[in-house]
Amino acid sequence: MPCVRFVPLGKEKVIRAGATILAAANQCDVPVGQSCSGDGICGWCRVTVLEGREHLAPPGPLEERLMKEKEFLQNERAACLARVQGDITVTTTYWGHE
Ligand code: FES
Repeated sequence: MPCVRFVPLGKEKVIRAGATILAAANQCDVPVGQSCSGDGICGWCRVTVLEGREHLAPPGPLEERLMKEKEFLQNERAACLARVQGDITVTTTYWGHE
C-alpha cells in the first residue's frame, strides 16, 4: 500500500491505493488548507509533490481546470483530488518551514 510522507512535519501515512492526499493528511492530523471541503473549487489544498509525482493518478478534468485557473506549478497538485497510487512525499508553504 502506498505511503504519503509529509515534510518537514515528519509524519507519514500508509493508505489504500486510490485514496486522496487529503484523506491521508486527515488520517494523521496534518492540516491542509481548504474552503470547499474537497469540491475542487478553492485550490487552497495545493501541495507540492517533492517525490513520486509519477505515483499520482493523472489529474481528472476537475483538477485540470482547477490547476489551470489557480496557476499551479508543474509539481503542485490539489490534495483533495489527487489520488495516490504509490509512495509520495509532499510539502506546503505552511508546514513549519522557517
Ligand atoms: S479543498 Fe478546495 S480545491 Fe481542494
